[in-house]
Amino acid sequence: MSLKLRLKERLFLILDLLPEKQGFYFYHKIQDTINGENMSQRVKTNEQSFEVLKRLLQQKDLSIEGKNILEIGSGWVPIMPYFMLYRGKAKSISTFDLNRHFSKNKISRLNEVFQSEYGIRVTQDSTNPYRLPKKITYYPNTDLINADLPEAELVFSRFVLEHVKPDDLALMHEKFKRELKPGSLIVHLISPSDHRAYVDKNLSLQDFLQYSEAEWKGKQTKFDYHNRLRLPQYLAIFKAAGLELLHVEYDKPGADTFKRFSSVPIHEDFKNFTDEELTAGSINVVLKL
Ligand SMILES: C[S@@+](CC[C@H](N)C(=O)[O-])C[C@H]1O[C@@H](n2cnc3c(N)ncnc32)[C@H](O)[C@@H]1O
Repeated sequence: MSLKLRLKERLFLILDLLPEKQGFYFYHKIQDTINGENMSQRVKTNEQSFEVLKRLLQQKDLSIEGKNILEIGSGWVPIMPYFMLYRGKAKSISTFDLNRHFSKNKISRLNEVFQSEYGIRVTQDSTNPYRLPKKITYYPNTDLINADLPEAELVFSRFVLEHVKPDDLALMHEKFKRELKPGSLIVHLISPSDHRAYVDKNLSLQDFLQYSEAEWKGKQTKFDYHNRLRLPQYLAIFKAAGLELLHVEYDKPGADTFKRFSSVPIHEDFKNFTDEELTAGSINVVLKL
């Protein structure tokens, strides 16, 4: 394991020992520093995701224009909502997060990047505590499962589902099916790979599949929970919630990635999956209610 990953894991373990409030305080401080430095880069990677979202909808002769959108997992700054609003001409975006990550400072930095790199002038609402534009509503510290849902014809998530407990995924999708209008769409961009491999380039993207559930639980903290669900498990949850699968696509491993995967001693919990199911990466799904 690389020194960088070892240090990260130690730091999370120490933060996890602190009382919840203090632990999250320091976690946010660290994340703010990292994210503040990389704002421009973060916007660029979100722009690629926005292009993916547009393509997925276009394939079905659909678009973002005029839609009320519900985003699951707002993250640190409202980058996707900005692209949806200013490039996609969405009608409104309601963005939900279990935590509170937005702040006036971060949003002001994001606005500078949109102005300097895209010539987009964000119209801030001076009465909004985060100075968000009027068409974007932020619901921090909110569990969607118990929330009153706003009007929405499109639900979207980016790199969130892999961090949600399987039972909660089921409850969330059952709620969408029950409470949103029939015909509404759901688009998820899912990153099912072992995120530790992004820090330690020597690790396989499937390294975590060698552990039992109990072993993996011991390696995680509340700051980096990953459910390790494989493609068929996500599809089964969506199906059980009564959703229609309109489209699914995923990355297949190149020779190098597959070689690394082959050297991972896969735990028997995952033995019923094929190699293709185990290695399916960057999963994009379009669902219909
Ligand atoms: C890896 S971040 C991704 C954030 C953002 N979508 C992005 O692409 O940068 C995951 C976010 O999802 C939030 N999250 C995790 N579980 C959630 C849930 N059940 N409901 C809403 N937000 C959740 C976390 O608090 C975190 O902000």
